Amino acid sequence: MQRASLQQELEEARRRTDGLFALVSPEAMYGRPIPDRHRLIFYLGHLEAFDWNQLCRWTLDKPAFHASFDQLFEAGIDPAVGTASSDTPSDWPTIQEVEGYNVRVRQEVDQALEQVPEEMVHVAIEHRLMHVETTAYLLHHLDSSEKQAPLPTPLSLNGQAPSEEMVEIPEGSTSLGRCRGEGFGWDNEFREHDVFVPAFAMNRFKITNGQYLQFVNEGGASPALWKRQGEQWMLETMFQLVPLPLSWPVYVTHQQAQAYADWKGLALPTEAQFHRAGYGTPSGVDQQFPWGTDFVRTTFGNFDFQGWDPKPVTADPEGTSTFGVAQLVGNGWEWTSTPFHPFEGFNPLPTYPGYSARFFDQDHYVVKGGGPQTAGRLLRRSFRNWFRQGYPYAHTSFRCVKV
Ligand SMILES: [Fe+2]
Repeated sequence: MQRASLQQELEEARRRTDGLFALVSPEAMYGRPIPDRHRLIFYLGHLEAFDWNQLCRWTLDKPAFHASFDQLFEAGIDPAVGTASSDTPSDWPTIQEVEGYNVRVRQEVDQALEQVPEEMVHVAIEHRLMHVETTAYLLHHLDSSEKQAPLPTPLSLNGQAPSEEMVEIPEGSTSLGRCRGEGFGWDNEFREHDVFVPAFAMNRFKITNGQYLQFVNEGGASPALWKRQGEQWMLETMFQLVPLPLSWPVYVTHQQAQAYADWKGLALPTEAQFHRAGYGTPSGVDQQFPWGTDFVRTTFGNFDFQGWDPKPVTADPEGTSTFGVAQLVGNGWEWTSTPFHPFEGFNPLPTYPGYSARFFDQDHYVVKGGGPQTAGRLLRRSFRNWFRQGYPYAHTSFRCVKV
């Protein structure tokens, strides 16, 4: 890939993160909309500190110009529940101080970009794009008085909720992971390998709010974004409270998805079943995307910043997979029953050894697909995301399988 186009991608990703922080009131930058995560001010400094540390300090051995900020903003992902630090707003620098640091970092990074190995530029771009999505979760949980809605994007509230139909997926092999020659991938995507998947059946559509409501009415736990208003359930969308859209995918934790599957006498799909249903073909050769080989086009699904919120589960039928499963990519990540573990041949990135390895336990599960705020370049087949099984803040949907 040309350096100039990578530079452009980095700038575009910066515009995304700048645009998100611009929605937040200055006072709210010192708040913590999700108790288990850092104050927002941390993320304002983190994106630049990451690029500076990774590309300039650790790869090119450049001397620090603000060592305390390099360290303060270095890392902070998903601490275990209840272990968030006990800092106070006054422990943090002013927004102006952080913005001054950011300006200098961008100058330094841009000047150094030609000398940095291409892989590290991809690391910077994708790290930032992943933070676009996690920042969107954070802002989702910010009180509406503390954020400013951008130009309104209309919500598709009136779709029909489909029935809970299952699609038969024939047995066959599917390919997981990424081949070394295919281009950039994170450590956890390697190595590519084939897995044989026995026949199974899968929900054609994601489980909707309407279907999940029946489970809640029988005692199931309600999702974090559902709010009770008198007798009615409402949904906290990114910028407003609306009556629960029954045709939208429900966003739940892994524990809630598993409980629903148990209630139905079904299971959550494994990562390999997701791949087989999403990318498999009768010929046995996997496609790059459920809809074929074209790169992302907006009519294929709800992703790549088209909107802030979900659409009905029947939207974007052009994105349906060869075996007839809808919306496997876009409109919400999908939980799998596969704990997040390394593939054979896993090698951590030397400058970022903890990216995946810190999360290889029995508490984090693989999620696949992508949501409304997932960047197009993260929709590649081999990309793996993961969350703690009780994590209630992400845009994670699900569907069930029957073996
Ligand atoms: Fe980060």
